[in-house]
Amino acid sequence: MPNLPPLSGIGLKPEHYAPLLAAGPASIPSAEIAAPPCPAWVEVHPQNYFGAGGPPHRWLSAITATFPLSFHSVGLSLGSAEGLRMDELDALATLCERYAPAAVSEHLSWSGTADDRYPDLLPVLYTPEALDHFTAQVSQVQDRLKRQILIENPSRYLAFACDTMSEGDFLQALCARSGCGLLFDINNIEVTATNLGLDPFAMVDAVDPALVGEVHLAGHAREEHADGPLLIDDHGSPVSALTWTLFERFIRRAGPKPVLIEWDTNVPEFGVLAAEAAEAQRRMDASGVPQREADHAFA
Ligand SMILES: [Fe+2]
Repeated sequence: MPNLPPLSGIGLKPEHYAPLLAAGPASIPSAEIAAPPCPAWVEVHPQNYFGAGGPPHRWLSAITATFPLSFHSVGLSLGSAEGLRMDELDALATLCERYAPAAVSEHLSWSGTADDRYPDLLPVLYTPEALDHFTAQVSQVQDRLKRQILIENPSRYLAFACDTMSEGDFLQALCARSGCGLLFDINNIEVTATNLGLDPFAMVDAVDPALVGEVHLAGHAREEHADGPLLIDDHGSPVSALTWTLFERFIRRAGPKPVLIEWDTNVPEFGVLAAEAAEAQRRMDASGVPQREADHAFA
């Protein structure tokens, strides 16, 4: 199973199917090679392809003939106390067998109970008990898919009074115990740090690059309130200046990584998204840091 390339990619939207295929195979511009901006790989939400056929699969089959693929799942609700919904996991496993994606990821969150499903990625407790439960859930998914998955750090709007671990310690322990990797979302670091009054630079520095199989970049909305700003993780605008700074700080330590531009609301024309991906690639190229050997551990 090939790894994702340590280059920039995009979150794929149906309105970009045709322009992406027209743009052709990856030709990332760099200091050495002048070429039109084009993503090197794509990511989709597998839940959007759980139907057996039709145009979505015709497009995705054509695109994955050229571009490496990442599955970014949004529906497993790994933090749910009632456990996994096996129909959802079975559907994901079937889709993984069909497309053999280079990476599969999910969120450090929960989105449902035995009776309800919510269209949100809700925060989990950072306690030993929650870690035990989340580790078991991740292990169950990895056993069913017969592969490692990556878990994404969340955007948070609150912290629980009973938390006894930092987010970084929770994720590091989760990786050690389950064998999963990290999907490191640097916009989520800015959102969480701003909303909870944490130090985003310290949060970035606490992440072990060897655990990171993929990076996310995105934009967010900002509301000003009397008691301070509130950042909302809406993926509806360009990457912020601080998130670019945090990304460069991480890449100087980590070397090139597969990095994705997420843009899920106010979706722009393909050229705007491709240019944002090209900017991520330019900043990785400018870092001058070679890829770390340890990164080859991801599969
Ligand atoms: Fe993300």
